[in-house]
Amino acid sequence: MSDVIHSNTQDLDSAYQVENLIAEDIDAYLDAHQHKTMLRFITCGSVDDGKSTLIGRLLYDSKMIFEDQLEALEADSKRMGTQGQEIDFALLVDGLAAEREQGITIDVAYRFFSTEKRKFIVADTPGHEQYTRNMVTGASTADLAVILIDARKGILTQTRRHSYLAHLIGIRNIVLAVNKMDLVGYDQAVYDKIVADYTEFAAGIGLTVFTPMPISGFKGDNITLPSENTPWYTGPSLMQHLETVEVDATVNAQKPFRMPVQWVNRPNLDFRGFSGLIATGTIAPGDKVRVLPSGKTSTVSRIVTLDGDLEQAVANQSVTICFEDEIDCSRGDVIAISDNPPEVSDQFEATFVWMADEEMLPGRPYWLKLGTQMVSANVQAPKYQVNVNTMEHLAAKTLELNAIGVANLSTDKPIVFDAYADNHTLGGFILIDKITNATVAAGMINHSLRRADNVHWQATDVSRENHAGLKNQKPAVLWLTGLSGAGKSTIANIVEKKLARMNRHTFLLDGDNVRHGLNKDLGFTDADRVENIRRVGEVAKLMTDAGLIVITAFISPFRAEREMVRQMMAPGEFVEVHIDTSLADAEARDVKGLYAKARAGQLKNFTGIDSPYEAPEAPEIRIDTSALTAEEAADAIIARLIP
Ligand code: ADX
Repeated sequence: MSDVIHSNTQDLDSAYQVENLIAEDIDAYLDAHQHKTMLRFITCGSVDDGKSTLIGRLLYDSKMIFEDQLEALEADSKRMGTQGQEIDFALLVDGLAAEREQGITIDVAYRFFSTEKRKFIVADTPGHEQYTRNMVTGASTADLAVILIDARKGILTQTRRHSYLAHLIGIRNIVLAVNKMDLVGYDQAVYDKIVADYTEFAAGIGLTVFTPMPISGFKGDNITLPSENTPWYTGPSLMQHLETVEVDATVNAQKPFRMPVQWVNRPNLDFRGFSGLIATGTIAPGDKVRVLPSGKTSTVSRIVTLDGDLEQAVANQSVTICFEDEIDCSRGDVIAISDNPPEVSDQFEATFVWMADEEMLPGRPYWLKLGTQMVSANVQAPKYQVNVNTMEHLAAKTLELNAIGVANLSTDKPIVFDAYADNHTLGGFILIDKITNATVAAGMINHSLRRADNVHWQATDVSRENHAGLKNQKPAVLWLTGLSGAGKSTIANIVEKKLARMNRHTFLLDGDNVRHGLNKDLGFTDADRVENIRRVGEVAKLMTDAGLIVITAFISPFRAEREMVRQMMAPGEFVEVHIDTSLADAEARDVKGLYAKARAGQLKNFTGIDSPYEAPEAPEIRIDTSALTAEEAADAIIARLIP
């Protein structure tokens, strides 16, 4: 290591004399610091609060600034007129910020530094409300949050927002750094007032433990060493606190054992192990474990790693676990200590942070990824949204970018979980858009819904096969989709008449009609259209169970919901029929006069005008209405159904 240590001419306290590095030494440096614990933290505040200066100061005092950057910084500070030895640390951090600005979708800058006692990763998250998702991203892996306050200004709206978010994400250690103490003459009364105000606010959001400290990032007070300017403050300096506070890894090791299985390791018939990263707890050969969701139990026979077998393994280690018995266990399962396993359910209440530009669409199926589990999930309309500045609960029908709210969700199969408050790995999830594959939300499971345990599928004796058999037909759904005025209803009506003449048992579900009854509470927002199609899909499903041939005529503009209905039906039963009319033709015909109204601005969210239509990519049948009459179209559809 000595060859990477450069002589340190700075006048620094010896405890914080750490190596000056040149870039190519970084790997050697990381290796040499492997044995140290790692603290991940975030800083919350805006540039005005002195955040950049504080981070710059921490990096500088721990000597984690590369020499070339340091020289540039000193030069810059001179050029910018900063006096004497006082380096403008904000210049350093803002300089790094400029470097990273390209190409990062969720912009969180992570910086690495270390002292003799610990390694640190600091996530610098932007402060404004429109960056809530960035902050949540940075906070999701943090052990600690530094909430910065400008001593001259006291508690601001953003202090409350940052504190609420940090607490919501479950960061256990909150530091209230009352900064710029030099600008208030190191006045204890100012500090005490801010701490008292914060204590009162924090109690209201359930945040009872936090560590306040008076600092000056600019002057260096209470950053690495206790400051002589605040003799009335007897607590640790920020760095002393960062170096000694208990990290999550330690806390996680004390929780019940859980390991999501990443893959089954089976190189030959003599070896079968289950590999993964231990989320919480410890495990040793001889321990009784349970595999979820199946609930099967066995005993750990070996814990295998690349460096040989272990007598014990703890949270944060990657291991391969072998069992004494041959029980089923595969990717996505969770291995847990037998007498304290996680829950298994398919209905939950969760808190969501919406992260996509597109709003939440209740009813739309999203992929839900929780650890190594991936299932399809439907989110219901939010119970409420939280105003992140006042913590008020507001009524909401959806969640938009950066909104935080609580909603129920159900998954297509049971998942293994803990409440987020107990276990971040098994209680935190993301939602992924099924079509774009973008992450749309982060979620935290509050609890399962008891009705999931109390409502069971009831087996009935007369099966869907019996129903269909009595009708002497194969059930199907002919799903007609297309623009308003494309001719869906007309064609659907002819199809039904012809099928009836052939003695088929049918039922026609038509958009305009269903919207007079079952769906009369729904309008034409994206969210309402999703719900419209979800309900129609469920009804169509019941009707196929009853053995019917169902014909539906709905615009059904979104691929995701058509795909959802397809997945609900038995394989081959869903027949997607695109009634393909150009917008120009539909508008020229304008049978109901609605296009004219929409163009005149009297009708909002009209499909094709100011609401999208996503044409099917691979429908079973495509009807080009410019080439076929309605009769011919109906014949083509029937020919496909009954060859
Ligand atoms: S869907 O988009 O949710 O599938 P649906 O097929 O039920 O729509 O209803 C569409 C019918 O509602 C149209 O044929 C039209 O008569 C009427 N309608 C009223 N307002 C609108 C609108 N904003 N957009 C589309 N159709 C509308």
